[in-house]
This record gives sequence, C-alpha cells and structure tokens, in this order.
Amino acid sequence: MSSYKSFAIVGAGAVGLPIIGALAAQNVRVILLSRPESTSKVVPSGVQVAKVDYSNASAVAEVFKQHNVDVVLSTITTMAVTAQRSLVDAAKLGSIKLFVPSEFGMPTEGHKEGILGEKDRFAESLKAAGIPYVRFYTGMFAENLARLIGYSTHGKITIVGKGEVPLSITSIGDIAGFVAHVLTTLSPSELENHVFRLEGDRKSLNELGLLFKTTVEHVDQIAGERGGVQTHIMKLIDTGAASTGWDQVNKAEGLGTNAAGSANAFWQGHQWKTLKDVHNL
Ligand SMILES: NC(=O)c1ccc[n+]([C@@H]2O[C@H](COP(=O)([O-])OP(=O)(O)OC[C@H]3O[C@@H](n4cnc5c(N)ncnc54)[C@H](OP(=O)(O)O)[C@@H]3O)[C@@H](O)[C@H]2O)c1
Ligand SMILES: *[C@@H]1O[C@H](CO)[C@@H](O)[C@H](O)[C@H]1NC(C)=O
Repeated sequence: MSSYKSFAIVGAGAVGLPIIGALAAQNVRVILLSRPESTSKVVPSGVQVAKVDYSNASAVAEVFKQHNVDVVLSTITTMAVTAQRSLVDAAKLGSIKLFVPSEFGMPTEGHKEGILGEKDRFAESLKAAGIPYVRFYTGMFAENLARLIGYSTHGKITIVGKGEVPLSITSIGDIAGFVAHVLTTLSPSELENHVFRLEGDRKSLNELGLLFKTTVEHVDQIAGERGGVQTHIMKLIDTGAASTGWDQVNKAEGLGTNAAGSANAFWQGHQWKTLKDVHNL
C-alpha cells in the first residue's frame, strides 16, 4: 500500500488531465497547478486548481505546503519542458517525497541532444538534488500515431527511414490509469528511483499499412509545418529508440525488468489497448 496521500499535477494537457481524472478516482487529494495566464481547465469536482508562476520556486513550494503535497507530477508540454527545471527547487523547499518528471515517451537515459537530452538532464538534476523520482516510459501515444505517419491527413502512410524496427505504442488512457494505479498501490521503495517501461502494443511502422489497410510510402523527409518534428521522430524510431526497452547507452533492447513492457505486470488483470482498439480498425 502506498503512503502517498496528496498529489500535485503541474500543467494539465493531453497527459496531465487524464492523470488527474485517474488519481481523482482514488481516495487521494489532487491539485492542479496551472500558469496564471492559462485558460481554465475542466477538472473533476474535488480537484483544486492553483494558479502559480512555475518559475517562482518559493511560490510553487508554498502551494505544495498548503496542500501537504507528497508527490509532484510534471506533465509540462514537450516544447516547454525546460520550464520544469525550477520545480526542482520548489520540490526541495516543499519537502516533496516523490517526483514524476515529464517523460511519457521514449527512454531518455543516455540521450544528449534535443528534447530527450533535456529530459535526461532533468532526471539527473533530481538525482543530484536527492529528490526521489519515478520515470514512466510509454513509447508513442496510440492516439497520436495516425498523425505522425500522415494517415490522418492523407489516408496513406508516409515513413521516413526503413520502418522495420518495432516501437512501443500505448494509449493515453492506459498511461493515466497505470500511473494512478502504481502511485496509489506500490510502496515508496518499489517506486523511488525506478523506471517503468509500459507497452500497450508493439509494431514496426511498415506493419501499419496492413493494420490501417492502406499503402506505405518511404520518403527522405516530411514537408510542411510539423514535417521537421515528424521526420526527427521517425528517424529516432528507426534507430530502435522508441521501444520502451531501448538502452541508448548500449544501443540494445533491455532484458528482464528492463525489457519493453516489463512494467505492465504491475497492473494485474488490466487489458491494455492496442492500436486496433484505439483506432477502431
Ligand atoms: N509519447 C508520445 O507520443 C507523446 C506525445 C505527446 C506528448 N508526450 C510527452 O508528454 C508530456 C506532456 O505532453 P502533453 O502533450 O500532455 O502536453 P500539452 O498538452 O501540450 O501541454 C501540457 C501543459 O504544459 C503547460 N505548458 C504549455 N506551455 C508552457 C510553457 N511555455 N511554460 C510552462 N508550461 C507550459 C500547459 O499547462 P498550463 O497551461 O496549465 O500551465 C499545458 O496544459 C511531455 O513530456 C511530452 O513530451 C509524449
Ligand atoms: C515569488 O512568489 C513569492 C511568494 O508568493 C512572492 O512573494 C514573490 O514576489 C514572487 N517573486 C517573483 C519574482 O515574482
């Protein structure tokens, strides 16, 4: 049984709001921290919203203390993930017991460049500050995959790279449910400084043609506004990095408790959604 009773979610969007919903369904206290300039979010009754400037560590720590917060979950968006840096000081000042950094994607340990490098450096800063952390690797969100491969825009699948390497795919609902489940049932020693590798489904990009019943084309890069990001993600997928078992340091799949989907076992009896389920294929 977990000893954590009060949870703070920082930044409620695609991942944060479902996590709030899943935690609020448990017998725990949940608050949402949101920026003063942010639009209001719809949260379950009983969940309080505190508007606070994330960069002001003492103001954030004050909110943590007011609500006796034990666990902080940062779900700040990819492009502003550096905004979570100031939460380390806030967590320290607020005597936070466990910190969930904004990961929710590919394994980040050993990455140096870009967003993945930034996420790993953030986890290192939690270690350096002596704040217990727990990282959730999920692979790609099942809900976002159709857009990544162009299917939702033009009905065909457009892949950068060979498309042969399998990646982990997990639905946002399962991620939120899993996070709430383990944070409210596992003991601190089972959570502190652990990495959880989830996997709802596992497919190569090439296999998606059959699944979505459409043609697959291979290109060198994707054009358009979001093309650069899509190209970058698919190149990463081609290296193997989007499997939740991927070990970027040794450039290999992990085994045993480091294997892709090894964390699924912590949610006994749960039926994980596949790509087929999520996209009604
Ligand atoms: N694996 C995948 O396929 C996948 C896909 C998407 C995201 N992710 C990861 O999941 C995590 C959460 O992403 P998300 O898609 O849920 O994010 P999101 O919905 O785009 O945004 C989450 C929250 O971030 C806060 N935020 C936005 N801009 C900010 C800024 N400039 N400074 C500070 N806070 C800001 C906002 O909170 P307030 O407005 O309430 O302050 C927003 O609601 C990220 O680590 C992301 O990389 C993974
Ligand atoms: C930070 O928050 C504290 C406490 O709420 C406040 O007194 C202080 O003025 C804020 N600092 C800045 C730079 O906004």
